[in-house]
Amino acid sequence: MSILMAARYLKEGQLVAIPTETVYGLAANAFDDEAVKKVFQAKNRPYSDPLIVHCHSLEAVRELVSEFPPGAEELALAFWPGPLTLLLPKSDKISSLITAGQNRVAIRIPNHPLTLELLASLPFPVVAPSANPFGYVSPTTAAHVAAQLQDEVAYILDGGPCEIGIESTIVGFEEGLAKIYRHGGIPAEKITLECGFSYQGPGMLKSHYAPRKKVLLGDIPTLLTKYPQAAILSFTKSYPGHSLVLSPSGSLDEAAHNLFAALRTLDEAPCDLIIAEELPMQGLGRGINDRLRKAACQKDP
Ligand code: TXA
Ligand code: MG
Repeated sequence: MSILMAARYLKEGQLVAIPTETVYGLAANAFDDEAVKKVFQAKNRPYSDPLIVHCHSLEAVRELVSEFPPGAEELALAFWPGPLTLLLPKSDKISSLITAGQNRVAIRIPNHPLTLELLASLPFPVVAPSANPFGYVSPTTAAHVAAQLQDEVAYILDGGPCEIGIESTIVGFEEGLAKIYRHGGIPAEKITLECGFSYQGPGMLKSHYAPRKKVLLGDIPTLLTKYPQAAILSFTKSYPGHSLVLSPSGSLDEAAHNLFAALRTLDEAPCDLIIAEELPMQGLGRGINDRLRKAACQKDP
């Protein structure tokens, strides 16, 4: 039933929040510019920040791109459906509204059973940025979406908590090399194994994924001596007070899964500051640290 409702609203050009394995997306018909504009407006997102197109099959992706650069198809076959977004030369089926005027389009096949079924039932792909107001922490439950965008969406397709919990890894291709533009759900090590090369791309927006509260990143015991009232986000060790542990057993996958919900909870805690520590730079740790650093980047001096 709910998939039918979601499909109906999307066909009418309305916005629907969809579950994926990474975070919830704010979806609209990618072939309808008016619907796509609603996505930017609902998120308060500048038109200069392009959107990711979501498809249900490689065949559907082929319609939207003019070619696969060397290495791209291998990555697609290895990781789709999954938390990998590829930047590919767009075909003229993709409007420049989606790509912010660039000639590459970001595409992925998400790995969530409800959303795959929904996409397979639609005669068009959907654009779907994370379903949060621009700059805030991404949603990993239907309740997170409802908390901020209830009035903006026609429907929220509830697919339970997102399994991975951080956004997809974004990979582009330049001069024959794969280049990581955003660390995310597929660890860089796996991209390297699959196609031989990968290196860190330039950071995109500096402040992003940010709670309203100020976030300080560093050694928690040291920061606590200076800010004893702060809320604490730690990897494995628990602290008294308003404190959350990402993974008591030290699992980076579990930490990614819990990260955004923890940031949202601490953002509501009765204190002015969140202190957090970086995690090991391996596996999903890179993506987690990237988001913590962006959360700690102050918007106002
Ligand atoms: O896991 C994800 O990727 C989630 C789920 C919903 O699929 N989506 C997501 O979308 O994180 P969003 O819009 O929050 O982040 C997309 C990022 C933005 O930083 C955007 O600048 C970049 O992808 N991007 C999109 N199209 C691009 C393009 N053509 N060239 C370069 N970067 C692009
Ligand atoms: Mg986002």
